[in-house]
Amino acid sequence: MPVITMLSPKGGVGKTTTALILATEIAAQGSSVVMIDADPNFPLARWAKKDGKPDNIEVIPEIDEDEIIGTIDAARKRADFVVVDLEGKASARATSALLMSNLALIPIQGSELDAVEAARAFKVVRNAGTARQRPLPFAAVLTRAPASLRLWTRDLKAVVANLQEAGIPMIPTALAERGAFRGLFSIGGTLAEMTNADVGSLDSARINAAAFRDDVLALLEEGAVV
Ligand SMILES: Nc1ncnc2c1ncn2[C@@H]1O[C@H](COP(=O)(O)OP(=O)(O)OP(=O)(O)O)[C@@H](O)[C@H]1O
Ligand SMILES: [Mg+2]
Repeated sequence: MPVITMLSPKGGVGKTTTALILATEIAAQGSSVVMIDADPNFPLARWAKKDGKPDNIEVIPEIDEDEIIGTIDAARKRADFVVVDLEGKASARATSALLMSNLALIPIQGSELDAVEAARAFKVVRNAGTARQRPLPFAAVLTRAPASLRLWTRDLKAVVANLQEAGIPMIPTALAERGAFRGLFSIGGTLAEMTNADVGSLDSARINAAAFRDDVLALLEEGAVV
């Protein structure tokens, strides 16, 4: 079933956080999800060891570069969704994962520097499409955006305008900067089990995460799965 890969040659833009939000929100609807943790620091494997991991999420720490294609292939045959979290640099492993993907998501924070780095990611995705003779659908995801549009910086608005001008598709729902999203890693489990004693603005984080998931699933349904 669909393979969704998080990609960015820049570190720290929110790939792993976005991957976990997406996977836990998909699993909350009852679908099974395999997450492939291709980050050498294994943040998702660490999350999986904490209490609260839903039974319908399986995390595979992917170590060997030679194994990633086989691992993704086996995962997509048994799970409803596969989410691949890549390390923050270009690699043969990243290229292999892209060749196996139905959708690449490229997280971007709202600075000019991020936008320049993201342009490299778009090129990598287009190259993967050329290599497999089938375009690889992709979209940018704005991460750590101020929750209120009113607080969006000039830089952030410029990044969005540039993406639009360049014809880069964007997931309509930006992921806001939320303690609840960081809390997924420090507390473990999912947003559904978190409590207001754990983090602030939990309801807003839940609404944001679910809207983001719905956007990604709509994009897949629109024919991104080819
Ligand atoms: N939406 C968000 N709200 C709050 N904090 C966030 C959000 N997204 C990411 N962060 C924080 O930003 C930092 C980097 O995020 P993350 O680890 O997800 O990025 P990454 O792209 O996977 O990094 P790397 O390239 O190192 O793998 C982390 O401290 C994470 O908690
Ligand atoms: Mg990461």
